[in-house]
Amino acid sequence: MDVKVQDVLIIGSGLAGLMAAECLTQNKSVTILSKSSWKRSNSYFAQGGIAGAIDSEDTWDQHVEDTVSAGCYFNNRDVTEAFLKNAPKTIQRLIDMGVPFDRNAHGEYALAQEGGHHRRRILHACGDATGKAIVETLKRHLEDHVCIEEHVQAIDLIINEGRCVGVLAQSSTRKKICYYATHIILATGGIGALYERTSNPQEATGDGLAMAYRAGARLVDMEFVQFHPTMLYHHERCFGLISEAVRGEGAILVDSKGRPIMAGRHELEDLAPRNVVSKVVYDHISTGEKVFLDISSISNFRQRFPTITAQCEEAGIMIDQGLLPVTPGAHFIMGGIATDAVGRTSVPGLYAIGETACTGVHGANRLASNSLLEAASFGERVAAYIRSISEQPSKIPPSLTIQLSSPLQVLPKRHMLQRKMMSKVGLVRGEEDLRQMVDWLERYCRPDSIPSMMDMDREDYERLNMLTVSWLIATSALMRTESRGGHLRRDYPQALRQWKDKRIYRERKGYEQ
Ligand code: SIN
Repeated sequence: MDVKVQDVLIIGSGLAGLMAAECLTQNKSVTILSKSSWKRSNSYFAQGGIAGAIDSEDTWDQHVEDTVSAGCYFNNRDVTEAFLKNAPKTIQRLIDMGVPFDRNAHGEYALAQEGGHHRRRILHACGDATGKAIVETLKRHLEDHVCIEEHVQAIDLIINEGRCVGVLAQSSTRKKICYYATHIILATGGIGALYERTSNPQEATGDGLAMAYRAGARLVDMEFVQFHPTMLYHHERCFGLISEAVRGEGAILVDSKGRPIMAGRHELEDLAPRNVVSKVVYDHISTGEKVFLDISSISNFRQRFPTITAQCEEAGIMIDQGLLPVTPGAHFIMGGIATDAVGRTSVPGLYAIGETACTGVHGANRLASNSLLEAASFGERVAAYIRSISEQPSKIPPSLTIQLSSPLQVLPKRHMLQRKMMSKVGLVRGEEDLRQMVDWLERYCRPDSIPSMMDMDREDYERLNMLTVSWLIATSALMRTESRGGHLRRDYPQALRQWKDKRIYRERKGYEQ
C-alpha cells in the first residue's frame, strides 16, 4: 500500500476545501483529495451568489436578523453573529483574488435579492454562474503550490489512540493509498444525491458524514434537510436548479391558471424563506396541480441567467413563453458533523467545514446565499486555527496496519434509494413512512454496527455512504416529533416549545479501529 505524508489533508475540492488550502499553503504542506473531477462540487454549480452586508445602507446585524429568522431561531447566535459580521471581509478576500463579481451600469457591485432577505445583498458573477467563477479563481491561485489529487476517493478515516491521523483512500483502479496528516479536514459537501429530485450533482453522496460517523465523530441536526422550491421539472425529469435570484428579479410562482400561489402566504410572498415557499409549491403539486415560475416580467432573462437559459434549452422549454415548470428538490442539509466555531469536530485531529459541518449558523433552515459564504468563511477560520497552533506532526503509527474487511454483499440500487428517500423522507414526513424507510434501510445493514475499511469499488462505497446518511436522516426525523424549518412532519405540523432548544446528536459509541 502506498503511504503519503503531509501536514494537512483536505478531503473535497469545493469552495470550503480550496479556501482552507489557499489560507494554509504558506507554511504547511497541503494535499486535496477529490473523488471525481475538481469541478464536480455543489460550490462549482452554485448559481445565486454569495451574501454579505456590503451595501452602505446595509448592516451585518440586519443580515443576522434575516438569517436567524429563516433559521427559525434555531441558530447558534454567537457563531452566526461572528460569521456574518466578518462576511464583507471574506467577500473582499475573494474580490482581491480576482473573482469577477458582476457590476451595474454605474460600476457598483450589482446586488441581487433572494428568499428570506429583506434587502438586496447578494453578489453574483457571470450572471448565474457564481460558484464556477469563484471556484475557478481559487483553483488558479492554488495551481502551483497545492496538489489536488483527482479521482482519489477517501474510504475511511484512520483513528489511532482516539486521534484522527489519516485517511485510507483508493484510486480509480482501486489501488489503496494511506494519507497521513497532522490535520485532516473534511470538506466533502452535501447529500442531495440521496434524493430523486435535487439541485446537487450525483457526487453529493454525504461521504464525509458517513466516514465521520463510522469513525465515531458526533453529528447533529440530521433531520433538517432543505428542499429548494424551484427545480426545473419537465416530462417527469429534473433538469437542475432555477435560482431564487430569478424570483429576486421579479418572477412569481403561479398555478396552471396563472394565479400567483404565494400571494397572502407570507409578508415576503415569492421571496419568503425556502421552507415556506417549498411547502406551498408541494401542497399545490400534491393536489395534482402544476406549478410554474412566471418569468415574463424579466426582459433580459437570457443575459442575466445564461446557465438557466441553457438548462431550459436542454429540457426543450421555450423561455419566450415565460413559464418554467417547477417542483421542489433536495438542496442542502443544515445538520452535519458537529463542530465548534473553528471547525474542530469531537475527534482530535479531525475538522469539518462547509456543508458537511454543522456549526449552527443555518439553524433549522438556511438563508439563501449563505452557503458559499459559509464555505469561504469556515475555510478561512479552520486555516487560521491550524496556523495558530503548534501541534507536533502526527507520527505514522508504526504498529498500525490497515486490515481490509470483506465488502457488504447486497446494497440497494442508487435509484431505488433515491426514490424511496424522496417519497418517505422528503419535504413532508410522517411516522409510518419514516418507520418503513428505517426498516427498509436496516434490511441492508445497520450503519451503527457496520465495519470500516471494506474493500469495495467507488459506486458501492457511495451507496454505503448514501445508505448510512439516509438512515441518520430518517432516524433523526423520526425522533423529532414536531415541525421546524426544513423538518416538516405531517403528523406534528407545529413547532413545539419542548423541542425549541433540543438538538438530536448522533454518535457511534465505542469505536476504535
Ligand atoms: C439559488 O440560487 O437559489 C440557490 C442559492 C443558495 O442555495 O443559497
